[in-house]
Amino acid sequence: MATKQGQWSSYWAFILATAGAAVGLGNIWKFPYIAGENGGGAFVLIYLVCIALIGIPLMMAEVMLGRAAGHDPYTAIRQLTKKYRAHGLWQVAGGSLVLAGFLILSYYSVIAGWATAYVLKAASGIFFEADASHINALFHQLVASPYELAFWHTLMMSMTIAIVSMGVEKGLERSVLYLFPSMLALLLVIVGYSMSTGYFAKGLSFLFYPDFNKLSSYGILSAVGHAFFTLSLATGSIMMYGAYLPARVSIPKTTVFIAIADTLIALLAGLAIFPIVFAYKLEPSAGPGLIFQTLPLAFGQMPYGSFFGMVFFMMLVFAAFTSAISLLEPSVAWCVNYFKLSRPKAAFMVGGAAWLLGFGTIFSFNWWQHLKILGFNFFDFLDNMTANYMLPLTGLIVALFAAWVATDSKKQLAITSPFLFKCWKYSLGILTPIAIILVFLNAVGILSFGSHS
Ligand code: TRP
Repeated sequence: MATKQGQWSSYWAFILATAGAAVGLGNIWKFPYIAGENGGGAFVLIYLVCIALIGIPLMMAEVMLGRAAGHDPYTAIRQLTKKYRAHGLWQVAGGSLVLAGFLILSYYSVIAGWATAYVLKAASGIFFEADASHINALFHQLVASPYELAFWHTLMMSMTIAIVSMGVEKGLERSVLYLFPSMLALLLVIVGYSMSTGYFAKGLSFLFYPDFNKLSSYGILSAVGHAFFTLSLATGSIMMYGAYLPARVSIPKTTVFIAIADTLIALLAGLAIFPIVFAYKLEPSAGPGLIFQTLPLAFGQMPYGSFFGMVFFMMLVFAAFTSAISLLEPSVAWCVNYFKLSRPKAAFMVGGAAWLLGFGTIFSFNWWQHLKILGFNFFDFLDNMTANYMLPLTGLIVALFAAWVATDSKKQLAITSPFLFKCWKYSLGILTPIAIILVFLNAVGILSFGSHS
């Protein structure tokens, strides 16, 4: 086989698979709603800074460690600790990497279920010229019904289990190849509609004008956490993909490309949504229902809206699906390795456990609405605990490990410029840990930047 050919195809395969894992509900559903809850501009600015200074270097580190070890994240960290003769305590990171992905999957599948329900709603033409209160009622009807949510959640999770137990790669790559450009195109269609509302400037300034008075310490923590979440960091997935990466591929280039694509899609989603929010006098801080309460309004007004709406939600389901697969993959790979289970059995057991846990999220929108854990409902608690605490903390350990323990990183990353290599190393080894610790101290109220609310 010609080496050139082989290289190109694996290069693109890696980009697409990783981009498929990174781009998901985090970009289109979560980013706009947490940006809305946290007052917009200042939150977005911190999020962008975190992507650049923490996200990209850490993503490089994870790909590098994954490639160096060639195993599931837990086994990888264990082997690398031996290889670099490091202390056994580093292995805590391995367990946490695998656990975080599992916990996120439990609610990810529920939200992906909402998107599935909306494919049918859009196709039925129910959004046509509907007003804001009608669209709002439709969303609340959906989340008020545990049976309906359970149905879609079960469907999503069974499909994820089925794909993971078969092993994925080929189909996944192909679907992402089409998904990506079509997603961009559709988002642009909606942004086009948003421009026509007369509120585009307001949406722009909400998203990009940083007013730090609106930012709470919790907002800062959420911005940091979301940078991890959206790039799929600290969940082992990126390491998993790195394990299959051929030695010649440049890690820095690929990583930067993926991070930029991911950020672009999130910002486009924001640009699509906020002008609609202001045009229809909705609340930017509406919470997890935000995209389901805004975009249908646009689909109800634009020509061929039912069709565009159906395709849009189908793509959201797809994007979520490619992410759900890679959320399940690390814990399944770990079970296969550790308990010597067959792949289908491991997928069924781990996926089944995540499915059960998902009912906590389902009930937090209806039966358990008033049940609070530390002031949060079950879904918010789980989301906050994983994205805002587990991911940054695990990321911190991985960052330190990559910067100070992995002694051959310069060779692995093949960064020729000594300056750029130093930037990478010190941003991971010094800047990232300091930033994360400061943000934590701030969040628990020991330090104070950002207004407390
Ligand atoms: N990045 C995904 C999104 O934005 C969510 C996610 C977090 C994820 N960790 C992951 C996806 C690990 C796959 C693997 O929607």
